[in-house]
Amino acid sequence: MRALAQARDVLIRWREEPVSFVREALGAEPQAWQAEALNALSSDRRVSVKSGHGVGKSTVDSWALLWFMTTRFPAKCPCTAPTLAQLRDILWAELGHWHGEMKKLHPVLANQFSIQSSQQDLRFVLTAAPTESFAVGRAGRKENPEALQGFHAENLLFVIDEATGVDNIIFEVAGGALSGDNTYLLLTSNPTRVSGYFYDTHTKLRERFHCMTVSCFDSPMVSPRYIEDAKVAYGQDSNIYRVRVLGEWPTADDDAVIPLNLLEDAIKREVEPINHMPIWGLDVARFGNCRTALAKRQGNRLMAPIQSWSHRDTMQVAGLVMHEYENTPSNELPSEILVDSVGLGAGVVDRLRELGVPVRGINVGETPSGKDRFTNLKAELWWKTREWLEDRGMRFRSGRTSRVGAAANAAGRSAAEDVGIGRGVGTQRTGQALIGGQ
Ligand SMILES: Nc1ncnc2c1ncn2[C@@H]1O[C@H](COP(=O)(O)OP(=O)(O)OP(=O)(O)O)[C@@H](O)[C@H]1O
Ligand SMILES: [Mg+2]
Repeated sequence: MRALAQARDVLIRWREEPVSFVREALGAEPQAWQAEALNALSSDRRVSVKSGHGVGKSTVDSWALLWFMTTRFPAKCPCTAPTLAQLRDILWAELGHWHGEMKKLHPVLANQFSIQSSQQDLRFVLTAAPTESFAVGRAGRKENPEALQGFHAENLLFVIDEATGVDNIIFEVAGGALSGDNTYLLLTSNPTRVSGYFYDTHTKLRERFHCMTVSCFDSPMVSPRYIEDAKVAYGQDSNIYRVRVLGEWPTADDDAVIPLNLLEDAIKREVEPINHMPIWGLDVARFGNCRTALAKRQGNRLMAPIQSWSHRDTMQVAGLVMHEYENTPSNELPSEILVDSVGLGAGVVDRLRELGVPVRGINVGETPSGKDRFTNLKAELWWKTREWLEDRGMRFRSGRTSRVGAAANAAGRSAAEDVGIGRGVGTQRTGQALIGGQ
């Protein structure tokens, strides 16, 4: 009996002290910002954290879930992120990890809970009352508008990871439940998009949230090497550096040709493959720091990360492409290699034709098909790339934003000004390489 009373006292104490819960039940030491977020969740109930990459957001989400489920009954915790795969691979993986740690320290308590997942959703439940006390993870996609809808409970915690990529319809449909007096709400994200609900929580809804910005400099979880690499690759003034390192909103997003979030979303999403013949797009760098880029596309997806090279002359570029061509399995060979033939590209087209590969020069200075909308073909191709990304029907192959992002920041502005479609962040080399054959 005494042991039971002691256990109850501990649970009562943890209920108001999430940081003690993390230390004592999970054996982890929260970073200062994580402790602030947990305490704010406990006292203010609404917390929105924007940050650089890898500072420990999903970890704090999983801790909040375990804390809430352990110290309240019945507790319901609807969770979402842009895709189910992200929820499974990140948030539920963290949940599983820390639940495992809890089993080492408090096996009796931890064994009251179990992970129970199906194809449609992910679950972490109180095993004795799985329909009364549970956390459920559902994809925050527009095809799934009810992801956060219809939950009623005395103790309700919404956890939204990668919140900037969650479709706004999810928040609209959840509506009133999110702002209920007894509701707890934790949003975490890289701040890639200056619109949508997550952005609102830091701007017009700011009064109602405990808002935090966490830079990679604030977190010992992020290696100084990552920060240094980002600085060198993109520059301290770049949007990538602002978003991925400093945790700040990107600038000039509204009038960008291709906003950063469209690129990042395209990397994360899953699409049904469309099986066209592969096509390669080649954009030949003209000078200086520009890089020559080669994109291999099949239907709506990139077959490999975009390759790029710097400081290569016409003959070397032709040689590199030829080498790629010769080393490609016959069932993956492109039906055409489309090359931006303005400037140095023309020489590459000639040489590749001589070598016998199916090459076609695209003169982006030519008249666009939509004459009334665009000043030239280059502008039209840029805009098509944007529309294609907006349609959400295509996917970049790599998990790294780096190549695309580097090009976006380095070349986008001047390219967009150049073609007369407004200032912005776009991908001159990558954009042109990608659109080839559309
Ligand atoms: N206080 C902590 N103690 C121990 N490990 C931690 C702590 N905080 C975070 N971690 C670990 O650091 C790694 C990165 O954390 P996490 O994935 O939560 O970062 P993130 O901010 O969500 O990253 P991203 O920006 O990619 O979404 C994970 O392996 C996680 O387990
Ligand atoms: Mg995360």
